[in-house]
Amino acid sequence: MTQHQAGEPNAENRPEPGHFRLLAPFYEHFIQPKAPDRILAHLGLPQPGGVVLDAGGGTGRVAQFFAGKAAAVVVADQTFAMLREARKKEGLTGICALTEEMPFRNEGFCCIIMVDALHHVADQEATIRELWRLLKPGGRIIIEEPDIRRFEVKLLALIEKLVLMRSRFLSPGQVTALFNFPGASSRVEVAGWTAWIIIEKTA
Ligand SMILES: C[S@@+](CC[C@H](N)C(=O)[O-])C[C@H]1O[C@@H](n2cnc3c(N)ncnc32)[C@H](O)[C@@H]1O
Repeated sequence: MTQHQAGEPNAENRPEPGHFRLLAPFYEHFIQPKAPDRILAHLGLPQPGGVVLDAGGGTGRVAQFFAGKAAAVVVADQTFAMLREARKKEGLTGICALTEEMPFRNEGFCCIIMVDALHHVADQEATIRELWRLLKPGGRIIIEEPDIRRFEVKLLALIEKLVLMRSRFLSPGQVTALFNFPGASSRVEVAGWTAWIIIEKTA
């Protein structure tokens, strides 16, 4: 498996997406950090010795609220400029990696979150397989996504297309269907435009 250490440029043949590289220094001015109460409640932290992964975690906007609640909090993202912001935050480890192929051992994380990132990745099926591979038995994955069944989110999808983002939004049901692994159980919660897909791996 390809190893991408923090500080290395992308080793992949896909170019780093320009949108997030340009947005990185201002990202949290536009999308302000806010304690992810629902995610925190569902993850059931702290788990002694547990390590949390934020896949596509960008600037650590969300991950920063997990710092100190777990043995370590790892932010994996393909855009180094976003990770540079994450690394300014105390308690976060930034790793430059694609979510489709992350340089971590099997079952190394008790909790995995992916917020507002699944619709941005190039290969969603490969990403879901990776999240599952990395999750410890008894652990949880929480994916937060804009709910594409809502009109406002369809509009957002159109705007992202117009600005040449390669977004592909899946409905909560489509995300759940990708976790068709033995030992996976899932449920969905929705509030307003946002959907949370909560996945558990049988211990
Ligand atoms: C909208 S931002 C969300 C960042 C963070 N999760 C948050 O909520 O603030 C989407 C992030 O996904 C990252 N990303 C997109 N495709 C990726 C991939 N295949 N592997 C890793 N990161 C990816 C982008 O670099 C960007 O930082």
